[in-house]
Amino acid sequence: MDSPLSATTTRMSEDSTVPRETLTITDNRTGKSYEIPINHDTIRAADLRQIKVDPKEFGMMSYDPAFNNTASCISKVTFIDGDAGILRYRGYPIEDLAEKSTYLETAYLLLNGELPTPSQLKDWTYHVTHHTFIHESIKKFLDGFHYDAHPMGMMISTIAALSTFYHDAKDIFSAESRQKQTYRLIGKVPTIAAFSYRHTLGMPFVYPDNELSYPGNFLNMLFRTTEPKYRPNATLEHALDVLFILHADHEQNCSTNTIRGVGSSHVDPYSATAAAIAALYGPLHGGANEEVLHMLMQIGSIQKVPDFIKRVKTGEVKLMGFGHRVYKNYDPRARIIKHIAYEVFELMGKNPLLEIALECERIALEDEYFVKRKLYPNVDFYTGLIYQSMGFPMTMFPVLFAIPRTSGWIAQWEEMLLDPEQKIARPRQIYLGHNTRHYVPIDQRN
Ligand code: SDX
Repeated sequence: MDSPLSATTTRMSEDSTVPRETLTITDNRTGKSYEIPINHDTIRAADLRQIKVDPKEFGMMSYDPAFNNTASCISKVTFIDGDAGILRYRGYPIEDLAEKSTYLETAYLLLNGELPTPSQLKDWTYHVTHHTFIHESIKKFLDGFHYDAHPMGMMISTIAALSTFYHDAKDIFSAESRQKQTYRLIGKVPTIAAFSYRHTLGMPFVYPDNELSYPGNFLNMLFRTTEPKYRPNATLEHALDVLFILHADHEQNCSTNTIRGVGSSHVDPYSATAAAIAALYGPLHGGANEEVLHMLMQIGSIQKVPDFIKRVKTGEVKLMGFGHRVYKNYDPRARIIKHIAYEVFELMGKNPLLEIALECERIALEDEYFVKRKLYPNVDFYTGLIYQSMGFPMTMFPVLFAIPRTSGWIAQWEEMLLDPEQKIARPRQIYLGHNTRHYVPIDQRN
């Protein structure tokens, strides 16, 4: 990255016809002009601080609620072009990875920046596979939850509790410690997710089977009953692996912003990951896949779709699974997921809600309300239909998002930690509250 120029020095181009990489701002309150360097098509908010009316002032800030137009970091992990519908992990198009890679290989790519060699992949797979067991005491946490506890609530709590077992996790600036916690998190998150699911059913926990693939072992821990050896269905195993690839990372989304923010206080990675899972749980983020199914069930039939769309257009309800802060085109993941859906339905039978979903999409892609706002199906629109057909209850849908996203969260957390420009996240504010006022004894308050 070019070394950022300070605001007081600017790159004067030799040829005056060549535009300088700067922004000239004139403060009309004072008539003063300021030349602010432009790097990567952005200016540093800190360069605005010199703009003052009175030298004693704090100086100018930028105001950007929900960070609609603010870059919080420089990252090399994931690239999205929202208008073109492009998504790349470390430069590799998501379409290539979904077709040719596996989730574990993709997780390695996100975490290490390069696709693994055969020996690197073997070593990575070995370590993740040999960290799938959890401490027996953790089962007591899970047993303490009510039978109808939401698995995401169980995940948040139990992943945070991992920090109490691995005291070495606080050594966040040791590459060796970070590597070990990464093995543990990628290895144990599916186990805790499966145990949470089994707890809600009142079924015994199924221990990991290290001879199975990452998705295959997850299916084993979820669905094995009395058979001595669980044999995952190859179609479902592959579908889950591709879905995990598609959900692995997505640059600075809400939950990634959370792990970067919480991690910036230098807390251990288990506590930071638990915070990210909490952010993902929200219905506007990873919880949307569960809300989509509730919405489709509420609509109930194709005939009722037009009435529901009317309610969406009045602002009464949202069309869950549609819209995106970045994608103003079809979410490239949704396109791939739609193909996977048909593979799963061929095996498990078509999900009866599919027709309602397709009708919602058909209308939305034609209707001015959605076209004007560039609302397209996002990653959450079709996943729920697949998960339901695979036998998952709706409460498990966001958990199926959290499992693969763990690799993206850890890749982003580590990038934040090692970025010399990053420090504890502490935004400013515009204060419009009361000015100084004095305490009034209660017997004098009206
Ligand atoms: C994920 O950020 C990521 O990368 C997230 C994610 C990832 O991989 O990490 O991609 C995963 O979270 C996908 C999004 C899942 N959420 C949903 O499907 C919930 C439904 N979608 C919306 O809530 C909304 O689209 C968001 C939250 C996804 C994006 O919200 P924005 O960018 O803040 O957009 P907005 O709310 O400002 O909406 C702009 C306009 C508004 O209308 P006007 O006020 O201009 O009239 O579009 C409307 C909104 O009312 N709108 C919708 C809508 N989404 C936006 N109207 C109806 N239904 C919707 N789903």
